[in-house]
Formats: sequence, structure tokens, C-alpha cells
Amino acid sequence: MEQDIKSILYSQEALNTCVKSLAARISEDYQGKDILLVGVLKGANIFMCDLMREINLPLEIDFIAASSYGSSTKSSGVVKILKDLDYSIEGRDVIIVEDIIDTGLTLNYLIENFKSRGPRSLEICTLLDKPERRIAPLKVKYRGFQIPDEFIVGYGIDFAEKYRNLPYIATLKECVYSK
Ligand code: PRP
Ligand code: MN
Ligand code: MG
Repeated sequence: MEQDIKSILYSQEALNTCVKSLAARISEDYQGKDILLVGVLKGANIFMCDLMREINLPLEIDFIAASSYGSSTKSSGVVKILKDLDYSIEGRDVIIVEDIIDTGLTLNYLIENFKSRGPRSLEICTLLDKPERRIAPLKVKYRGFQIPDEFIVGYGIDFAEKYRNLPYIATLKECVYSK
């Protein structure tokens, strides 16, 4: 696996520092509120696990599985909900947790869908953001890193469903794509 890596963009330490600072902001902003963190599977899995453990409030979690890329590297533009939320979000303070925002199509779809369910508040927390690639407009309250338009993997993010288990975020060698 490591032989496929071009370079490490964010080390485990850098990710840890970033996650802690996002969690500190959320803990501050949501004092006295009843947070429901919604992780978007599968990519947000690892970020969600780390983030929730750094938030110093009695929160609840849920997951939604949405996919627009499938095994392709390009967004299809069509977002499929593969697994819906287990609980109602009506009247809840919801934070959607994402690993990365690229075109914004996935989150734009989820935001509109969630709004119709009547949450009390709805915000986005993403670890990574590629603003250059944005098609659908989004208001992002919590953002870890802004990254250039390069294909990256690790810390939950896949290429053709692989490399999610890398503990850091890295770029892939070109020969891995063109195979
Ligand atoms: C990836 C990523 C985000 C989305 C971002 O998910 O995890 O959810 O794409 O892209 P967008 O802003 O262009 O919509 P993917 O559809 O690959 O599913 P996965 O999380 O299971 O890998
Ligand atoms: Mn995803
Ligand atoms: Mg993916």
C-alpha cells in the first residue's frame, strides 16, 4: 500500500491537531444544546470517530450512507442514499460530518433533504474542502483544511474503495490511477 503513495499531505499529528481544534469550537458553540452528529458513510467514518471523542458535550450520533462516486474518481452528480438516518432530526441541532467537499453535490443534496425534516439547526463540519471544484453552493461552518485540486486518499477517503485505512492523508502516484 505504501508504495502507491506519492507524498503525505497531512500526518497523523496534523490531523489530530486539526480535529481537536474543530471539536473545541463545536464544544464552545453548542453549549447547552442537544447535538446530533450525522456522519456521512463511508468516507467520514474515521473523522467522525475522532471528532466525537474530542467534543466535550453529551452528544448523540447517527449515520447516513450516501454515494455519488461509486468506484469512479469522478462524481456522477447523482447522489444515492444507501442507508438513511435511524432517527428523526426534527427539532434537533444537527451537524453533518463529512471527510471532504469536492463539487458539493453530495452535501447540497443532503442539506436540502435534511432541511425538509425540520431540524432546529443544521451545520456542516468537513475535514477537507476543495473550493476550486465547487459546483453546488454550500455554507460551511466548520472546515479543517482547504486543499488544492489533487486526488487524495487516506483517513477514510478512498480511491476505488481502497486506501481508507491509511492513518494519514496522502496523494497517490499517477501510475496507480492509470492502471
Ligand atoms: C466522497 C466523499 C464525499 C463526497 C464529496 O464520497 O466522501 O462524501 O464524495 O464529493 P462531492 O462534494 O463532489 O459530492 P463518495 O461518494 O466517494 O462515497 P464514500 O464516502 O463511500 O467514499
Ligand atoms: Mn463520502
Ligand atoms: Mg468515495
